[in-house]
Amino acid sequence: MKIDILTLFPNMFDGFLSESIVKRAIENKKVSINAHNIRDYSKDKHKKVDDTPYGGGAGMVLMCQPIFDAVDSLKSPKSRVILMTPQGVPYNQKMASSLSKSEHLILICGHYEGFDERIRSIADMEISIGDYVLTGGELPAMIVTDSVVRLVDGVIDSESHQNDSFSDDLLDYPTYTKPQNYKGMEVPDVLVSGNHKEIEKWRQTEKIIKTLERRPDLIKHKKGYLITKDNKTGEILSVEFNKIDGFEVTPKNDARREDIISVNKMVIVKPSFAEKVIKLKVDKKMRNLYDKFNYLLTTDDEDSTAAVLDEAVRYRGFIIKNYADFMGTKYRDTILKKLGIIINELNIKMNLIYEIKESELSGKTR
Ligand SMILES: C[S@@+](CC[C@H](N)C(=O)[O-])C[C@H]1O[C@@H](n2cnc3c(N)ncnc32)[C@H](O)[C@@H]1O
Repeated sequence: MKIDILTLFPNMFDGFLSESIVKRAIENKKVSINAHNIRDYSKDKHKKVDDTPYGGGAGMVLMCQPIFDAVDSLKSPKSRVILMTPQGVPYNQKMASSLSKSEHLILICGHYEGFDERIRSIADMEISIGDYVLTGGELPAMIVTDSVVRLVDGVIDSESHQNDSFSDDLLDYPTYTKPQNYKGMEVPDVLVSGNHKEIEKWRQTEKIIKTLERRPDLIKHKKGYLITKDNKTGEILSVEFNKIDGFEVTPKNDARREDIISVNKMVIVKPSFAEKVIKLKVDKKMRNLYDKFNYLLTTDDEDSTAAVLDEAVRYRGFIIKNYADFMGTKYRDTILKKLGIIINELNIKMNLIYEIKESELSGKTR
């Protein structure tokens, strides 16, 4: 890969290109990186590269000619010309990964007030490294170069960036090194267990938890994972996974390949959490039923009484079918007892209403 950087300050790149991974990548001929002085391409006899803005206003504006000519002389059909500007597309890891597969990048660094708007016409792409304004495009160009170079094949061990933050829309898992105990802070047991399967599982879960805690925006839109936590204790109460192409699930007692099934959604719920949620729902419904029951004490309306009786009978059936196993026996028995009383009372009331009705009818016929 080749990267050409157009700048008014090529010396700014000296340190950047002569240290660490970028330096090694250049030495190992994985990349060739050159910072070119825009001024060298100026046709002006004083090597002028900028001028005042039309219409007035502060600052100097980079002129078209030196930049058009520089790009012309460096460009080939495989080049991607990129303008560094705070008005560009916000830069991210996916863009870095895509750029790392290019053969040739030309990065244009603006300076001062910016550049002549017509320079946009020669760019294939405009990149912003964030919603803030720097004095020039040199640091943004270094950021893009650094993030791209480390992804070029053979520059660093691919395993070390596969798990990096953002590579799968998740933040990286927590890492630790020696000593195992530092000022009372212990390395998690699983990491020293030697059980690689368990370590992998732990890391995957930690990635999800960390992302949900720190950058939920990265995965929220995908509805991929939803973790519900107890606000007070921070304890994880449930984990919900949604995946378009499904999760493979291996039945535990028979791990043969053909037994693997694929599911699109998994919800893992702590029993105590399920109990709490069900309790909230049941209590609300019971309050509603009591309100209706109390109202019926003030009326002998047959239809309303029949409707509430029907609702209570149905709700008892619903609880037995759906909630009974998750409610805890004491709470379940209490609720079923209360519903039994409501149903019993309403049955008595219905009988009374019928009796009154019948006696009224027989009175009329007499
Ligand atoms: C002072 S800035 C000009 C800002 C310009 N007046 C504006 O508000 O859009 C000078 C140059 O720094 C570079 N620059 C500053 N902030 C940047 C950012 N967030 N991302 C990419 N380049 C940036 C650009 O090349 C820009 O032309």
